[in-house]
Amino acid sequence: MNNPDRLEGSTVILGVCGSIAAYKACELARRLLGRGAQVRVIMTKSATQLITPRAFSSLTSYHVAVDPFEDPVPERIEHISLADMADLILIAPATANTMAKLATGICDDMLTTTVCASDAPVVIAPAMNPRMWGHSPTQENAQRLAAMGYHLVEPGEGEMACGHTGRGRLAPLEEILAYAERALAEKPLMGCRVLVSTGPTRESIDPLRYLTNRSSGKMGFAIAYEAWLAGAEVTCVTGAVTVDPPAGPEIVRVETAAEMAAAVLDRAPESDAYIGAAAVADFRARNVASGKLKKAGREDLTLELVRTDDILAQVCRAPRRPRLVIGFAAETENIETGAAEKLASKGCDIVVANRVGPGGVMGQDDTEILVLQAGSAPEAVRGSKRHAARHLVGLLAQRLRKG
Ligand code: CTP
Repeated sequence: MNNPDRLEGSTVILGVCGSIAAYKACELARRLLGRGAQVRVIMTKSATQLITPRAFSSLTSYHVAVDPFEDPVPERIEHISLADMADLILIAPATANTMAKLATGICDDMLTTTVCASDAPVVIAPAMNPRMWGHSPTQENAQRLAAMGYHLVEPGEGEMACGHTGRGRLAPLEEILAYAERALAEKPLMGCRVLVSTGPTRESIDPLRYLTNRSSGKMGFAIAYEAWLAGAEVTCVTGAVTVDPPAGPEIVRVETAAEMAAAVLDRAPESDAYIGAAAVADFRARNVASGKLKKAGREDLTLELVRTDDILAQVCRAPRRPRLVIGFAAETENIETGAAEKLASKGCDIVVANRVGPGGVMGQDDTEILVLQAGSAPEAVRGSKRHAARHLVGLLAQRLRKG
């Protein structure tokens, strides 16, 4: 299970409607193929006014279905065959017209008849003029579709191809792909709130300089994303990172250990689980210089540092402690001993140990973790950070289920 991508090996029916954002569906098809999905495209008649079926058949190497009465293989009814093979139906871009038809059960073209004939999950990414999106029947249809179990990827705000500005742009492809993957994933964390902290913190020395560390935030982001795929409502508090956060979880950006502590402690009481994957600075400057520290007249400089608060220990001691708390242990040597000490001293339920420093896992895409929990033998997990994150989320689901 080294590639936890749910899209790999799946069959995705990509429905393309007549919005000018239809051109973006070509890139979406490519991205789906790149993730290992098999892609079959259905276009509405209006979509073919904007982009040709040949663009999609060239990309996917399959016939593109447009007309429900044109069966490329006579002994097969095309919309039933597509409906049967679908693991997922992804409609991007979806127009107000197609949404209205789906919300009321109208099947008068290839796309709507296929959706109607399938029991696969359906993800809808609308794209239209902001007034069309805000139009009350469109809003009612969107709500109706969500209530019917369709997964809606809200359109984004910005300048539109039509010249108007507002909400109606097709959501970023990364977000659409995240929702597509989530629709395919099992949901053992449905109904749970998960709080994750990740990345390094920065402690100012003067207005220009700060103390920090080499954490990339990748492990915490992978955990936040996996927990979100598993159905949880996820908030990820992140220090300053250079990698992009995942689409899906709510992202709260902070800089210092004190800001991270405030953001985490504020949300912890409402969370079922807290995963402290952040590399929090243990020390900050006692006094932050208000102006730039100049070198003139100085041969050396001594900084006085004071301890920051231990966020993980505070979460564990809080009266309304999350039901499950997972800490990390970043060690350069004696990994298991260091992690066991943290498990005992901090009051968390699980400690995930990893090696940092030269040859360590910080900043890498792969990791090697040792999972310690009271009453069980340490468990080693090796592979991509996504793989390790999926393992931890499985553990989380198991422990939360037990109560
Ligand atoms: N942690 C925290 N607040 C801090 C320091 C650490 O919440 N001020 C959390 C980290 O997020 C991690 C765990 O404590 O989950 C262990 O962090 P680590 O850096 O490995 O150890 P420390 O507790 O800082 O101890 P030491 O640096 O001495 O190993």
